[in-house]
Amino acid sequence: MRKYDLESRLLHGGDYNPDQWLDYPEILQDDLKLMDKAKANTFSLGIFAWSALEPEEGDFQFDWLDRIMDNIAEMGGNVILATPSAARPAWMSKKYPEVLRTNERREKMLHGGRHNHCFSSPVYREKTKIINRKLAERYKDHPALLMWHISNEYSGECHCDYCQNNFRQWLKNKYVTLKQLNEAWWGPFWSHTITDWDEIESPSPIGEMQVHGLNLDWRRFVTDQTIDFFEHEISDIRKLSPDVPVTTNFMADTYDLIPFQSLDYGKFAKHVDIISWDCYPAWHNDWETTADLASKVGFINDQYRSLKQQPFLIMESTPSGVNWHDVNRTKRPGMHLLSSMQFIAHGSDSNLYFQWRKSRGSSEKFHGAVIDHDNDENNRVFKDVATVGHALENIKSVKGMHKCAKVAIIFDWDNNWALNDAQGFGLHSKLYAQTLQKHYRPFWDNDIAVDIITSEQDFSKYDLLIAPMLYLVRKETMERLQQFTKNGGTLVSTYLTGIVNETDLAYIGGWPQELASLFGLSVKETDTLYPAQNNFLIYEDQKFVVNDYCSLFDVSTAKTLGTYGTDFYQGKPSLSVNQYGKGNAYYIGARTNSDFLDTFYRSLIQTHDLTNKWIVKGNKYVSVQSREGKQEVYFMMNFSEAPQSIQVAGRSIDLITGKKLSTTIQLEPYEVFVVKRENQQ
Ligand code: GLA
Ligand code: ZN
Repeated sequence: MRKYDLESRLLHGGDYNPDQWLDYPEILQDDLKLMDKAKANTFSLGIFAWSALEPEEGDFQFDWLDRIMDNIAEMGGNVILATPSAARPAWMSKKYPEVLRTNERREKMLHGGRHNHCFSSPVYREKTKIINRKLAERYKDHPALLMWHISNEYSGECHCDYCQNNFRQWLKNKYVTLKQLNEAWWGPFWSHTITDWDEIESPSPIGEMQVHGLNLDWRRFVTDQTIDFFEHEISDIRKLSPDVPVTTNFMADTYDLIPFQSLDYGKFAKHVDIISWDCYPAWHNDWETTADLASKVGFINDQYRSLKQQPFLIMESTPSGVNWHDVNRTKRPGMHLLSSMQFIAHGSDSNLYFQWRKSRGSSEKFHGAVIDHDNDENNRVFKDVATVGHALENIKSVKGMHKCAKVAIIFDWDNNWALNDAQGFGLHSKLYAQTLQKHYRPFWDNDIAVDIITSEQDFSKYDLLIAPMLYLVRKETMERLQQFTKNGGTLVSTYLTGIVNETDLAYIGGWPQELASLFGLSVKETDTLYPAQNNFLIYEDQKFVVNDYCSLFDVSTAKTLGTYGTDFYQGKPSLSVNQYGKGNAYYIGARTNSDFLDTFYRSLIQTHDLTNKWIVKGNKYVSVQSREGKQEVYFMMNFSEAPQSIQVAGRSIDLITGKKLSTTIQLEPYEVFVVKRENQQ
């Protein structure tokens, strides 16, 4: 029997679905043997197992789960035990159709898929409560239990009568009177004044989609409603196992790895004990370089780490390809170790996979998994996983270490929703999250740690705060930005900032006074360019191409640093800085490319002395990230298909292999080192 040191190990393993294999006892036996060989120590169980746990209403079958949990405990492993609410048995939908979702067209959905349930349905809540309580009662003291995995990737919305009523109640709590609601929603427009709470309907393509205040409140309600359901799910779990942490796995949106759009994770983060999330980059794609993609992976992992400012978990990733990208490429040799180490480098304390064993049937039968249909431990993917397992054991001292950033970028969910909803500017060129990724890139290229925070998080610990495209901005946020700058911080903002308030009503009477004094300017107009058009931003005798957005502004106390190169506003300011208190507020008026951002941020990096002194000569293909505890550990990752080198100030030792490294470090394609400096303990 092998015992792990629970406190100090990094988690390796993933979603394990033995309920699909209960008729294959030899497979379940093989699983146990192979877990050990893959150096896998942690398994998420029961995520979609409701029909195996309660095959008929009230008939609970836990024997199979007991056996699996006992076996995992026996080999020294851990279980992240799921509540099964992400999919439910057919008997429930048949007997209680109210559990099914109603879509935005007010059509009742059929049973099927997953995440297809109403969060308001009293029956669904009751059924979830019963099964969750039984799981908690039965397993709360089980030696394998490490954490609770609540549901799976919460998402979607329901528009049934229960949900409409809850939405109306939520609005009553928020606005108290219809007068206030109508003011916030700009009621008289198209005669949309609400005269009775019952007239309110959630946004729908067969009804109303263009009342922006309504849309924004609906999005907020959906987040609150989902959190409310989550809180309902954990209420007994908290009582019965108060010391076992709870999490739910978050997601990203699309290939671009932009933050999930449908739920405000900034809010949700406050309700979980530890952030966990599912990361599926499209490595080796044909539209971007490996470094381009790696920097996006860095961005979103930094964002989810920053939600709680503590280490997080990668709850799902793939050892090879997925099944839901347009093209599902497998990882080239070396990429699995590299990409796994990147998660740890950005603050994850795990690399867990979807899934342990490839399903035999249905939609995920070709999704990458640790064990393929061949059941062969000599399979290349299995061996890559075992290599990662060994590496994680060798670098386990990293567990729990933090990342320290002096730079933060703001991503705000309310702003994202409002901006995407705005019918104006360029309908397809807003690209808020993608713009933030571009502002992140110069720091990633220069191996400088960045936090991605919400507009409610603490600004005071940063030297440099970057808040592009803050279209929706609350009074409090403006005041906090003022405070940050006044106290000596450097603030950067851009075009499309400061346009609407908390309920998506335009600010009237000119650019908000708080911003006007902070930036020392007043924005007068925003010129939106067609995709093939451009202007120029002239800065330090260089001419940088700008696209999509040019904001026209008059400076008052600000100093003009850059001007426009053409059109009727040629020579007018395009870039400025304003001294405000002890700090400085920069305003970038136009959407620039990376050449400008590289130049602009280079000077801020120098002024603020942000570079890491240990890296003597960096390399933009080699990402260096550190985690800090009693000592610093550096991750050096070659995100390119060619050998690369960097120079560091002293000798170091690679924790993965024990290899000693000199001050010039050569990295083969996709090679990664996790080093500690030689003079450190
Ligand atoms: C999500 C789900 C998993 C699985 C994977 C496939 O992350 O949580 O159940 O479907 O996608 O990539
Ligand atoms: Zn509903």
